[in-house]
Amino acid sequence: MEELRRAFADRYGVKEPTHIVSVPGRINLIGDHTDYNSLPVFPMALGQCVHILYRARENPLVRLVNIDPQFGPLEFALSLAVNPDPPGGWGNYVKAAGQELALQFPKLNGLEGVVESTIPIAAGLSSSSALVVAAAIALIQVNNLSLDRTDLMEMLARAEHYVGTRGGGMDQAICVGAESGTAARIDFDPLRFAPTLVPPRWRFVVANSLVRAEKSGEARDAYNLRTRECNEALQIVAAILGLEKEISSYATLLSKVEVEKILTAADQALSDTLARRFRHVVTEGVRVTQAEHAMQVGDHETFGYLMSESHRSLRDDFEVSCPELNELTEIATDAGAAGARLTGAGFGGCVIALCTDSSVGGVLESLRDNYYSRRKVEHDLIEALFVAEPGGGAEVVEL
Ligand code: GLA
Repeated sequence: MEELRRAFADRYGVKEPTHIVSVPGRINLIGDHTDYNSLPVFPMALGQCVHILYRARENPLVRLVNIDPQFGPLEFALSLAVNPDPPGGWGNYVKAAGQELALQFPKLNGLEGVVESTIPIAAGLSSSSALVVAAAIALIQVNNLSLDRTDLMEMLARAEHYVGTRGGGMDQAICVGAESGTAARIDFDPLRFAPTLVPPRWRFVVANSLVRAEKSGEARDAYNLRTRECNEALQIVAAILGLEKEISSYATLLSKVEVEKILTAADQALSDTLARRFRHVVTEGVRVTQAEHAMQVGDHETFGYLMSESHRSLRDDFEVSCPELNELTEIATDAGAAGARLTGAGFGGCVIALCTDSSVGGVLESLRDNYYSRRKVEHDLIEALFVAEPGGGAEVVEL
């Protein structure tokens, strides 16, 4: 906080900041690449957050500086058509929030502030969605707007399409709505949010592969390609089942037809690639419900098994893993984790491994020795390897 205050004073002079907004990153425990297919996800917020220390301006200008020197200052005016920075620029996540709010609320005032993130960047832990949410919440506060929480979650998912990734609504929803000590099952269309207590002895280890998972460039193209493949597969399967009029989403398909029958139809009707994409989405949707139940009854082993099955499906059928993520999951399970999987979009980023309070020490040690030490990365391990604390959602504090 002191560093943020100093940076604020350096940049904006004597006037004091009035508020600080804090928004957590997340890990997804199970259910990846399901949200944009209107099937559920089961994420948990982290203790690590994006913070913006700010005060209101009396005009539409937004001015932000980032504590991290690799990110230059940002300045733009809120409007219905905000010009984006080049792809990959951090400012686009702030602009995404600003433009979406401007579309709904004319004559917005801007703000000036300082941004800091304790969420590792490009690690698949949703630092970018946390920034979208933080910017939106700060702008909502300075303009005294009131928005229903579910509407806000849905609006922010839409807002982030500004950066060019056709993402679903998981990240923004968990960043806004998380409750400390819980994970949440989130369903879509319409959005529903149901927290479950994380059993006190369960530990989720987060291990960063150190392969950057950027939300721009190649990973963005691969992600968007998956969204198109999933849509195409759904339409073909609905047609072969003679249900194209009734079925508009994976959720309606699963509510009308048995899983076995759906998968058999898919194998007959789809090309090899589309059949594998489709199988991942359908089986992953089923695993979310099974995993939610396993957590509710404290069934650690089943939850771990489902995580490992999910990883296999993301690796072989959805093809969004990479050798480093696979290696990390193997090291973790060999060292006694009940299960391990990549988390988030994949293409790099982190794995999570389910441990207990007694197995967690051995798993951490083995990851350190067998992954990081071999790559001679021992310095930044606090950010790369940690035990996730189930954190709360977005918060604004008046100073
Ligand atoms: C990214 C997207 C989410 C979700 C995950 C994969 O994090 O932002 O909407 O699709 O990938 O589950």
